[in-house]
Amino acid sequence: MANRYAVILAAGQGTRMKSKLYKVLHPVLGRPMVQHVLDQVKAVSLDEVVTIVGHGAELVKEHLGEESKFVLQAEQLGTGHAVIQAEKLLKDKEGTTIVVCGDTPLITNKTYLDLFEHHEKESSKATILTAIAPNPSGYGRVIRNEKNEVERIVEHKDANENELRVEEINTGTYCFDNKALFEALKEVSNDNVQGEYYLTDVIEIMKNKSEKVSAYVTPEFEETLGVNDRVALAQAEKTMKKRINEQHMRNGVTIIDPENTYIHPDVIIEQDVVLHPGSIITGSSVIKENAEIGPHSEIANCEIGESTIIKQSVATDSKIGDRVNVGPFAHIRPDATIGNGAKVGNFVEIKKSTLGEGSKVSHLSYIGDAQVGSNVNVGCGTITVNYDGKNKYLTTIEDDAFIGCNSNLVAPVTVGKGSYIAAGSTITKDVPEGSLSIARSKQSNKEGYATRIKNRKKD
Ligand code: UD1
Ligand code: CA
Repeated sequence: MANRYAVILAAGQGTRMKSKLYKVLHPVLGRPMVQHVLDQVKAVSLDEVVTIVGHGAELVKEHLGEESKFVLQAEQLGTGHAVIQAEKLLKDKEGTTIVVCGDTPLITNKTYLDLFEHHEKESSKATILTAIAPNPSGYGRVIRNEKNEVERIVEHKDANENELRVEEINTGTYCFDNKALFEALKEVSNDNVQGEYYLTDVIEIMKNKSEKVSAYVTPEFEETLGVNDRVALAQAEKTMKKRINEQHMRNGVTIIDPENTYIHPDVIIEQDVVLHPGSIITGSSVIKENAEIGPHSEIANCEIGESTIIKQSVATDSKIGDRVNVGPFAHIRPDATIGNGAKVGNFVEIKKSTLGEGSKVSHLSYIGDAQVGSNVNVGCGTITVNYDGKNKYLTTIEDDAFIGCNSNLVAPVTVGKGSYIAAGSTITKDVPEGSLSIARSKQSNKEGYATRIKNRKKD
């Protein structure tokens, strides 16, 4: 097998996106488009990847990291000009170079592989990845001669009426004989409607030198979408979402309404998980067997244990154990660890806290910066008073404690094992193990007082 190289074009501003964010960094299911491209390309196993950066160069580099080399295209004079920037790194190498656009996030590594194989089998100097598009508007068209051989590519803006009727489009992806590519690029001019150095002109230049040029028509038209504006971005999101959801369903995950379920690419979901409509699962979340998420829940970077149920809730950067019940309407903020069999009920917020096994915070509570042991019952309306306006303090509630409703636990404070806090208490001092603590003003009843006032005659 010949050496294989890749050039990713990612220097453009993306004017048609009408955005301050550079086009190739717009996310599709949470991951920048250009990162999707790199992920799929590198799965082909390449000797070198070079990404052409320009607009947003630093940010693009930061996202792609070590997996690519980078070359700066200081001025964006066209796709041909962009590839020329890789000359220093690549031009003397023997082998095949795949050129891909940073704005085609849906092309899969299988398609890249098929393109490589087609190119190498045909011993072509250039092979264009093409597709038959029902609506080819905006794309470059592949012009063939009477023998059905590829002659050249014409850009939409430069095409005449006949050429505009051609349905075979250039996907912006090509395999080239590396040396032939850099030779041909020397001859590209900017004599066209857009005044740009088009990479696409390389095809005609090679053809004129009687070098073999071919096309591989992919049957996967859906993959070839080039994202130039936000309408296409939404289409990409939709297609990617469908692809990921179908993979999970084939792996044994029930998705009640795939159109309304968003799963980011790195999420792991085990068998027999049920996802209800409006579930959004992002980052590096892991959902274990038999868990049930949604409806309308957002899970970001969380581990969710077996048979846990999360309804109408938001959970971020946290670990939730097995058989836990969360929600409806709970908010689990970063650094929460919820033990097996615990319960986090409605209108409960948990932040940077541990809730031990079997503990319950069933209603209307704030638990922040707290260590809560196992089998603790936190009554309705309990607040850990963790912040004095300057610093945060820790609340410790030991195993088997019972916190009465509407209590304030003013941190730093410890409620000892098995202790009982009377409802409505404001606890400011540590409570020893096994105690009952009451910290509220005494009740006094004024008998008959209310009736007397009610019966008082108006003046
Ligand atoms: C390009 C192709 C078109 C094809 C379409 C497929 C050319 C001339 N046209 O058109 O035939 O049908 O892709 O989606 O190649 N870029 C740079 N530097 C530049 C210009 C562009 O790095 O100077 C990058 C962009 O960031 C982008 C990619 O190249 O990722 C494609 O550029 P874009 O302007 O989107 O080309 P299209 O008009 O879509
Ligand atoms: Ca494009």
